[in-house]
Amino acid sequence: MTTIHKFVSLKELHTFRLPYSAQAVIELTVADDLVALEDDYYVLGEGSNTIFTEDFASSILRVAITGYESYETESSYELRIGAGENWHKLVVKTLEQGMPGLENLALIPGSVGAAPVQNIGAYGVEAAQFIRLVEAWDRQHKQFVTFAQSECCFAYRDSLFKQQSGRYVITYVSFSLPKSWQPNLSYGALSNLSDAVTATEVMNTVIAIRNSKLPDPAVLPNAGSFFKNPIISRGYFTELVVRFPNLPHYQVDDHQVKVAAGWLIDHLGLKGVTCGGAAVHDKQALVLVNKDNAVGADLLCLADTIKEKVQSEFAIKLEIEVRLLNNKGLISI
Ligand code: EPU
Repeated sequence: MTTIHKFVSLKELHTFRLPYSAQAVIELTVADDLVALEDDYYVLGEGSNTIFTEDFASSILRVAITGYESYETESSYELRIGAGENWHKLVVKTLEQGMPGLENLALIPGSVGAAPVQNIGAYGVEAAQFIRLVEAWDRQHKQFVTFAQSECCFAYRDSLFKQQSGRYVITYVSFSLPKSWQPNLSYGALSNLSDAVTATEVMNTVIAIRNSKLPDPAVLPNAGSFFKNPIISRGYFTELVVRFPNLPHYQVDDHQVKVAAGWLIDHLGLKGVTCGGAAVHDKQALVLVNKDNAVGADLLCLADTIKEKVQSEFAIKLEIEVRLLNNKGLISI
């Protein structure tokens, strides 16, 4: 049953664990309850990509809808999953049941409902490749809607749900995992694996790589990559690579190149740098961490410092990948 709690600390509800609270938290377990809810809430999953930098002046809607349905066709495994299910548990469960495909996306923190919002991705794979349908509550038109994959406007860490932020409450996500599975070993760190590798072996490798670089939010609070990897023009990249021949990069299309923000920040010597209690992680410079009881201002100061230095050295404007909130809602920096 959907429940409402008043004046709740948000510390346990977002993985960066800043010391703020919300007026109320609505725990949504039944999609149909959305119809009758007073509509003044901010939608949250497991809080692994959202950071509260102040006390939040209205309600938080925590999507906790569970559910796991599956069936198979001649060519695919089809799944319909509740938005409140944990993403990594879904990856493990599909592999245990002999349905490969999601292995490169193992250990990404967060809920299934958050996966389409920022089109989670890792090691050469994006969730959009497997999403077939997204079911949601449209707060603007007050009705349930279903989007086909092609209607979700998926792009690198982007989607319709992010572009029209706040409009949709995702309730269920359907995935299609083709039976004609091939490992995706395109990403540097996986390229040592043989083509005969199993999906479970790929997953275990991904887990080992992530554990070696990315801090466990349960131990060192963080929200994963803080900035996006910037996409720059091929012309500018050609100039830049003369000055920085080792700059890791990935071709986006004929005109654009994505460069590694972690490398840019690392190259400036910023690993381990702090502002108050917030720090640049010392193993992965793209990840900011709450090292020592940080407050919102510490994190904003650290993010500004990084942005300014990257701008002045590389003439590249970093954009945030996380969702930052002040007392009223989303902010951009
Ligand atoms: N690099 C450095 N120093 C650093 C960090 C990275 O030199 O401190 C270099 C690495 O050596 C590598 C390149 O930069 O050559 C890219 O680094 P990495 O492979 O660690 O991946 P990333 O581009 O920094 C992205 C995603 C991660 C995802 C990994 C693996 C974004 C914003 N981040 O990070 O996603 O796990 O690739 O696929 O696209 C997340 O979104 O929260 C997240 C963790």
